[in-house]
Amino acid sequence: MSLPEIRRATVEEILPLRSEVLRGGGPLERALLPGDEEGLGVHWGVWLGDLLVACVSLYEVTSDSGVRSTQLRGMATAPNLRSQGLGGALLEAALREWEGREGAARPLWCNARIRAVPFYERHRFVGEGEPFDFPGVGEHLRMTYLGSSS
Ligand SMILES: CC(C)(COP(=O)(O)OP(=O)(O)OC[C@H]1O[C@@H](n2cnc3c(N)ncnc32)[C@H](O)[C@@H]1OP(=O)(O)O)[C@@H](O)C(=O)NCCC(=O)NCCS
Repeated sequence: MSLPEIRRATVEEILPLRSEVLRGGGPLERALLPGDEEGLGVHWGVWLGDLLVACVSLYEVTSDSGVRSTQLRGMATAPNLRSQGLGGALLEAALREWEGREGAARPLWCNARIRAVPFYERHRFVGEGEPFDFPGVGEHLRMTYLGSSS
């Protein structure tokens, strides 16, 4: 089997995997996130040969009160390849690039599915507040990235 290759991706490349894992399939448009159509996200993927097997995206967002930050979204690994470190390696690559990027909006955070909380904790994210429900998806917890120096 080929060695995994981690590199930047386009939204077109990651959409089928994001749709399968996070939207249960269906029309690819349903897997679009705000900013995708305007080309505002930064996407990363893990490839095994020609096959994309994991993806993640970062978006600069502005809160209602005008505060800029970076939201991590769309973290997904193909079901048959989980728990082999691919998602973790991808997340670390995206975090490293984000930390080194001049002008990147800080902090970086995500709304983690409850089941994925231990995964993010292992990568230096910390939970904030109480879990909340995303109708149709389930419980989530907002988590903030503490940075590589912590
Ligand atoms: C979360 C996810 C991206 C991790 O990818 P991965 O390639 O398995 O990552 P790693 O191998 O580096 O880490 C494995 C850890 O992920 C977590 N994990 C495993 N399966 C999971 C699942 N179905 N859902 C959420 N987290 C899971 C576990 O903590 C696991 O640790 P373990 O192997 O010690 O049990 C992947 O499990 C996934 O796509 N889950 C479904 C979609 C999802 O929940 N995405 C996150 C949205 S916030």
